[in-house]
Amino acid sequence: MFEDLKRKTVLITGASSGLGAGFAEIFARHGARLALAARRVEKLEALQRKLVDGGADVQVVALDVTDENSVEAAVNAVTPHIDILVNNAGVATFGRSLEISASDWDKTLDTNLRGLFLVAQAVARRMEREGTGGSIVNISSITALRASRGLAAYSASKAGASHLTKCLALDWAAHGIRVNALCPGYIETEMNAGFFETPEGLALIARTPMKKIGRISDLEGPLLLLASDAGRHITGIDLPVDGGHLVSSL
Ligand SMILES: NC(=O)c1ccc[n+]([C@@H]2O[C@H](COP(=O)([O-])OP(=O)(O)OC[C@H]3O[C@@H](n4cnc5c(N)ncnc54)[C@H](OP(=O)(O)O)[C@@H]3O)[C@@H](O)[C@H]2O)c1
Repeated sequence: MFEDLKRKTVLITGASSGLGAGFAEIFARHGARLALAARRVEKLEALQRKLVDGGADVQVVALDVTDENSVEAAVNAVTPHIDILVNNAGVATFGRSLEISASDWDKTLDTNLRGLFLVAQAVARRMEREGTGGSIVNISSITALRASRGLAAYSASKAGASHLTKCLALDWAAHGIRVNALCPGYIETEMNAGFFETPEGLALIARTPMKKIGRISDLEGPLLLLASDAGRHITGIDLPVDGGHLVSSL
């Protein structure tokens, strides 16, 4: 299973921390060639050194998904071609809907929706030009599929990302490009680990049917299914990975 990844190049955006860095380790373990992209190049280079020490082939590209020129340059810099895009760069904004500022709204939508589209489009143009086809995995969220208090801008951006996924899957199927969305529930990373020990974090875990918080390793199988030839007949779906959070009782 996933043997085809050994012949593939994977561009991962937002690879400088959290899920993106974890996804890089997963693909490296499966023998894929990697291109790591984000704004904090020094963090990408630290991860590159670690993965190269483990035998992986890893390039680093500077990328700001809110800047069209940066997107174009980053996508064209990846060699020899791009087979898989993990469109993961994102920002989270919290706050009551009555108080969201226009600049927070813009930053959230510019990164999570406009930026996600610009990267997908640049990669798909390259796949179409080079006649390779490929797989795009957009990292959405369960907040795309169900309302969550205090997350209006973020949820709207992720709902946009999930619907965009279906539109692009339809548009690009003829070019052999599959487009799917992975919708994680709450996943523990270094940055939020403390939260799940607070009363709010423990209450959140208690509300989740499987009564546990997700880990990056829980995303491995679903991510590789969508990215690799194992999912060759799957396009245009949202795949929630959330311990049943979406089906919690009303
Ligand atoms: N953790 C969760 O529980 C969870 C659940 C569902 C969905 N998600 C989604 O998973 C993705 C990763 O989240 P995370 O939890 O791993 O957060 P994180 O640790 O804050 O990582 C976010 C990544 O996005 C990059 N990024 C942000 N703005 C960017 C920009 N303008 N251009 C390029 N890169 C940018 C950051 O890199 P630089 O700052 O170096 O640019 C960073 O590598 C996001 O799309 C998030 O919405 C996370």
